[in-house]
Amino acid sequence: MKTALFSTKPYDRTYFNRFAEQYSQDITYFENRLEPKSLVLTQGFRAVCAFVNDQLDREVLSGLRESGVELVALRCAGYNHVDVAAARELGLGVVRVPAYSPHAVAEHAVALILTLNRKIHKAYNRVREGNFALDRLEGFDLFGKTVGVIGTGKIGQVFCTIMRGFGCRVLAYDPYPNEALQNLGVEYAPIDEVLSQADIVSLHCPLTPENHHLINASALAGMKNGVMIINTSRGALIDTKAILDALKNRRVGYLGIDVYEQETDFFFRDLSEEIITDDTLMRLIGFPNVLITSHQGFFTEEALVEIARTTLENLSAYERGEFMEPNTVVDRS
Ligand code: NAI
Repeated sequence: MKTALFSTKPYDRTYFNRFAEQYSQDITYFENRLEPKSLVLTQGFRAVCAFVNDQLDREVLSGLRESGVELVALRCAGYNHVDVAAARELGLGVVRVPAYSPHAVAEHAVALILTLNRKIHKAYNRVREGNFALDRLEGFDLFGKTVGVIGTGKIGQVFCTIMRGFGCRVLAYDPYPNEALQNLGVEYAPIDEVLSQADIVSLHCPLTPENHHLINASALAGMKNGVMIINTSRGALIDTKAILDALKNRRVGYLGIDVYEQETDFFFRDLSEEIITDDTLMRLIGFPNVLITSHQGFFTEEALVEIARTTLENLSAYERGEFMEPNTVVDRS
């Protein structure tokens, strides 16, 4: 099936090319982001393959339909950027990769915690410059600390298991508690309790209209002084303005984010020679206790293999007619 793959990076080409022939799929790679001005490229394709920062609102979905596109194959798990109702109305199929490697993202969240806590990024630079002093590199034992986990689905479950391995008390909130985790000693509590008791809060829930800015000024006011907040889920779960204030008044002691509310304009691109105009992002980067990675939680070999294979399998399954009814299928599981 002829598919236009948008927001292509060299690694997408490598992994999709490795398996495309096996699935008899005909992929054309575009570096462009999918947005109104790139719709012209979609003529003659039956499917488009999109990633987290492609635009999939009603305007773009209507344009895709006019170009003759039938299927949007997301090569990611989250689909908060897709107007699913519009896709359904337009008769466009939407498929995704519901799970590729929960370990990749959970382990990245742990990497953010360890780096922020033990200041590995600073120690690395110091030693390279011949500075072997330890002052200001002091961290804290994770053992015995309370880790608050919001969302214990596939990624949250792996994250909880790792943190239990460190000897942490894990306190979680999820509308659907997971019995296997409870058997591991994970305790569930209402969200306010989780936020108020945690030394570290890690977000692992999807972004929905209901939890937009879940971590806002009032949630931050109820947290422990010096709390560490980790977000590998979606940027808009945190009200950036509120967290900036909380960092300035030292209520938040550490912030580790792999996602950012306005990331679409910056992440996945080399802007090292450009003037970055987002003052909020630059302010965040300037804090000594903030660590930002540019949406790389998913970025492991195992995950990239799984993303390519599942997406190609989704395209093949659509060709076989498996996704014709109902027309919009965001989850194959
Ligand atoms: P999942 O669907 O397996 O689990 C999500 C869990 O969150 C479910 O148990 C659900 O009941 C719970 N939940 C929903 N709303 C909630 C709320 N308001 N409060 C607390 N819990 C809530 O999803 P999975 O695979 O664990 O992924 C979680 C999120 O991680 C994705 O939605 C995506 O935004 C993000 N993600 C980030 C990646 C990265 O590279 N940084 C890569 C992949 C996913």
